[in-house]
Amino acid sequence: MNAKTPFLSDIQELRRRARLNMEKGPITESYKGNVEQVVDILNQALATELVCVLRYKRHFYMARGINKDAVAAEFLQHATEEQGHADLIAERITQLGGAPDFSPQGLATRSHSEYVEGDSLVDMIRENLVAERIAIESYTEIIRYFGDKDPTSRRLMEQILAVEEEHANDMADLLEQQSA
Ligand SMILES: [Fe+2]
Ligand SMILES: [Fe+2]
Repeated sequence: MNAKTPFLSDIQELRRRARLNMEKGPITESYKGNVEQVVDILNQALATELVCVLRYKRHFYMARGINKDAVAAEFLQHATEEQGHADLIAERITQLGGAPDFSPQGLATRSHSEYVEGDSLVDMIRENLVAERIAIESYTEIIRYFGDKDPTSRRLMEQILAVEEEHANDMADLLEQQSA
């Protein structure tokens, strides 16, 4: 590559383009994603997180048995972290000019993970593990899809994925302790 070749675009051109479509906020001409589709996918991830908040909260309040305290504390911590993920995703949706869908109508359908109440403590732990594994699979696909089309959304989902992997690990450990 010639040393004189300009990096990216010509700076004047870049400055000119930045002044076009200012109402699009951070969405510039270099954005390669399909904004509508990205917002739709992020809304599915938002629904997934919200269902996880509800499920972990339910389990926190319904945990019973002699060794419930440590398990319930873990459920509550996860509920709080899923809420944090939901907030991060909702914020990203608004940055993209979209609207975060918090409607309870159809929430379970938009979500990839399921809301299963579970009867016993072991059931609850198992259902949470299943839900985390679903989130891991779906977020991995989302990350692959975002690729370099929307690196910011991709990094956000990568950061969330790492926490879901920790969550799955926590649930797997608890499950092992329960059957020990
Ligand atoms: Fe999460
Ligand atoms: Fe999680």
